[in-house]
Amino acid sequence: MKTRITELFSIEHPIIQGGMHYVGLAELAAAVSNAGGLGIITALTQPTPEHLAAEIRRCREMTDKPFGVNLTFLPAVKPPDYPGYVRAIIEGGVKIVETAGNNPQKWLPPLKEAGVKVIHKCTSIRHALKAQSIGVDALSIDGFECGGHPGEDDVPNFILLPRAADELKLPFVASGGMADGRSLVAALALGADGINMGTRFIATKEAPVHDKVKAAILAATELDTRLIMRPLRNTERVLANPAVERILAKERELGDRITFQDIAPEVAGVYPRVMQQGEVDAGAWSCGMVAGLINDIPTVKELIERIMAQAEQIIRERLAGLLDGRL
Ligand SMILES: Cc1cc2nc3c(=O)[nH]c(=O)nc-3n(C[C@H](O)[C@H](O)[C@H](O)COP(=O)(O)O)c2cc1C
Repeated sequence: MKTRITELFSIEHPIIQGGMHYVGLAELAAAVSNAGGLGIITALTQPTPEHLAAEIRRCREMTDKPFGVNLTFLPAVKPPDYPGYVRAIIEGGVKIVETAGNNPQKWLPPLKEAGVKVIHKCTSIRHALKAQSIGVDALSIDGFECGGHPGEDDVPNFILLPRAADELKLPFVASGGMADGRSLVAALALGADGINMGTRFIATKEAPVHDKVKAAILAATELDTRLIMRPLRNTERVLANPAVERILAKERELGDRITFQDIAPEVAGVYPRVMQQGEVDAGAWSCGMVAGLINDIPTVKELIERIMAQAEQIIRERLAGLLDGRL
C-alpha cells in the first residue's frame, strides 16, 4: 500500500509507533521499523542527550530501516535540555522527528537544515493548521480516544479526521484508537494517509516493558480509562487503578484550587516503576480506550502483517463486494 506517508518517510506500511515514555526504547522502535512501519524512540525517557545518542546508536545496530525520535514539549518546572536532545538527533543522523505538546517552531530551523522531516502530533485542527503554517512536513492527528494527552477539546476521530482532511494540505496520520486493519481502512476512508498507534504497540512481544503492563492492557476494556489533570488543563487519558481514583477524588475535592503538587505522589516518577518494575498500581500511566480491542500479545511483525492483510481483505472483499451487490 502506498500513501503520502509511506512515500514521505520511505517506509513500506503506513503505520507509525508514536513516542511513548519508558516504552519507546530502541527494541520497540527497531522492531516496528524492521516490520516495515516507522518506529520511534522517545527522547525524554533518556536522562541526558548523551543517553539519547547511545540509544540512537543501539537502534541503528538493530535496524537499517528508517526510524524516528519523539520530542515532547510539555510544561515543566525545569525544562529538559532540548538543545542537547536536538543535537543528539541531528548528530545521530536521525531523519525523522515526531514533535508533540507545545508549538515546535523554535526547533524547526536546525532540524530542517539537517534534512530532518518533522511530523507534529496535535489534538485540534487549530493546532494542526498552525503547525502546517510554520513548515512541518506531516501531522499526526490525535483524537479524544487516544492514550496520553488528548487536549481539552474532546473531539473524537470520527469528526476530527474528516475535519483534518478538509482543512489540511499536508499528509496526516490518524492517531488514537487505532488497533487493526479495520482502524487503518476507516482512517484512510476518513482522509488520513496512515495510522499512528501507541497502546496497541505496548501489548507486543518486543515492547520492553514488564509483562504485568501488557497483562493490564489485555484485561482492560474500553470502559477502563480515566481522564486526569483536567483542572490543570493538562488532561491525560490513563488506565484506571486505585492511584488514579485517588487523583480523581482530590480533583473533586479541591476543584480549581488543585495544583500539580497535590497529585505529585500519584504522577511524579511513576513510569519507571510501572514499565520496568511492573508496579501497575504505582500511579497514573497513559493508556487508550483502544485497550478494549486488544486481546493478544503478538510480535510486532505479526501485528503489522495482520493489520495490512486485514485492511487489504476489507478493501478488496468487504467494500468491493458491497459495491458489487454481495453481502
Ligand atoms: C504509555 C504511553 C506513553 C506515552 N508517552 C508519550 C510521550 O512521551 N510523548 C508523546 O508525544 N506521546 C506519548 N504517548 C501518546 C502516543 O504516542 C500516541 O499518540 C497515543 O498512544 C495514540 O493513542 P492510542 O494509545 O489509542 O494508540 C504515550 C502513550 C502511551 C500509551
